[in-house]
Amino acid sequence: MTNFSTIYKLSLVAVVYLIQVCGSSCPVLECWFVQEKAGRGGGLTGATSQEKSLLHIRTESHIHNDKSHKAPADISPDRVYFITDPAGSLCHSSLNPPRGSIKKPQCEINPFLPQPSSLKWVAPLTESALSPLYLQADWISAALQGLDKEMTITSIMRAPTSTKENNVILSVTSKTVSVQSRLGEPVLLDCGFWVDPSSPLSGSGFAVEWRYQFRGNGRLVLAYDGKTDRLAETQEEGATLDFEALHRNGNASLILQEAKVRHSGTYICTVYLPYLLAQVALELEIVEPPSLSIHPSPLPLTVPGQTLTVQCEASGFAPLSLEFSWEFKGADGKSRQLGSAGVTGHRQAWDGTYSQSSKLELDSSKLDLGRGGELTCVAAHLGGTQRASVTLNVIGFSTPSIEDSMAMVGVALVLYGLIKFVSWTFTSSDADEADKQDKKEK
Ligand SMILES: *[C@@H]1O[C@H](CO)[C@@H](O)[C@H](O)[C@H]1NC(C)=O
Repeated sequence: MTNFSTIYKLSLVAVVYLIQVCGSSCPVLECWFVQEKAGRGGGLTGATSQEKSLLHIRTESHIHNDKSHKAPADISPDRVYFITDPAGSLCHSSLNPPRGSIKKPQCEINPFLPQPSSLKWVAPLTESALSPLYLQADWISAALQGLDKEMTITSIMRAPTSTKENNVILSVTSKTVSVQSRLGEPVLLDCGFWVDPSSPLSGSGFAVEWRYQFRGNGRLVLAYDGKTDRLAETQEEGATLDFEALHRNGNASLILQEAKVRHSGTYICTVYLPYLLAQVALELEIVEPPSLSIHPSPLPLTVPGQTLTVQCEASGFAPLSLEFSWEFKGADGKSRQLGSAGVTGHRQAWDGTYSQSSKLELDSSKLDLGRGGELTCVAAHLGGTQRASVTLNVIGFSTPSIEDSMAMVGVALVLYGLIKFVSWTFTSSDADEADKQDKKEK
């Protein structure tokens, strides 16, 4: 027993160690270097150029073994970067797929220009005109998305002019790239940031801003000035930050106290340092399955040949897309699909949820419903497939099938035979009696 537990413990230790080793290995990332083309005449053409690039990531700047790697032929040596990320955010396992994996993390880098912001909740950061000399360097911004939407990260990096030896100064990350929530539940949209403590920009304040975007419309959700500890703007009821966690460890997660349908959309978390900013985007979708009800319920008794109209109403669901179907399970226990039914237009309730109905015309003369069975309305929705059933009772005989007709003929023949037999027995016994009487009389 003790032996077993020792082995168990040892293997656990080994596994944990293995995970740490694998988890801490920093990747060499393939990336697109994207920049605006220097347009002729300086016009805002919006044209961009893309170049393949390679990022060698490490957590400590003195490890230089990466340099032994030769850059692939299709990557210009100018586009090979050596990045030191002391926080190790860029060494996350989702950015480091196994060798030969087809799926690759997404990565894009752009030149970055440090500049002050005039936003009300950011402007105080640059009042003191601090460290402009420090800003004179090569700055790039890298936006990465890990596999399986496990995480997204944007880092601002600084390299002393023309060295390609970059240091991460600011990283903003999120581990909830795509969130689904039921209606009415609290939602946490994860966002965290890290600032290089050795940078002169560290410790001179930060600001956090959350924006919401949906189909081209944007609005500010919340803006916080961390330097003066002021909530500059809240335009969303029930949206808040954990201010203590924000100051303690850069946890800028947005908390929505109660999920509503209108919260579905894209959220952008932006963190500002003096002259710098980095942002990540998250998707929130409010998914609420429908509740179903069937009318009329219970169904009236049906006679063969009658057409019955049955309505199934799905209500309280989001998002809008919904697929109705109908099933019938007869007395024989076999289920079958009934043809498509009409669907009404949708309506939207005060809380943003939708309702929609399906109307089934059940023609009992066309369908072989037997003596009845169970009628089920099925609504397929992103939030789960819902079902509602009613009992259908058909009274009286249905139109006879071939088997029924054959049986009837059979029954008729048997009956005929029986009548013949009975009448023959009677007449013959009558004849016997008559005979006997005749004999007695003689
Ligand atoms: C950030 O703060 C929220 C709210 O307090 C908490 O639920 C969440 O776990 C925190 N995230 C991290 C990474 O610590």
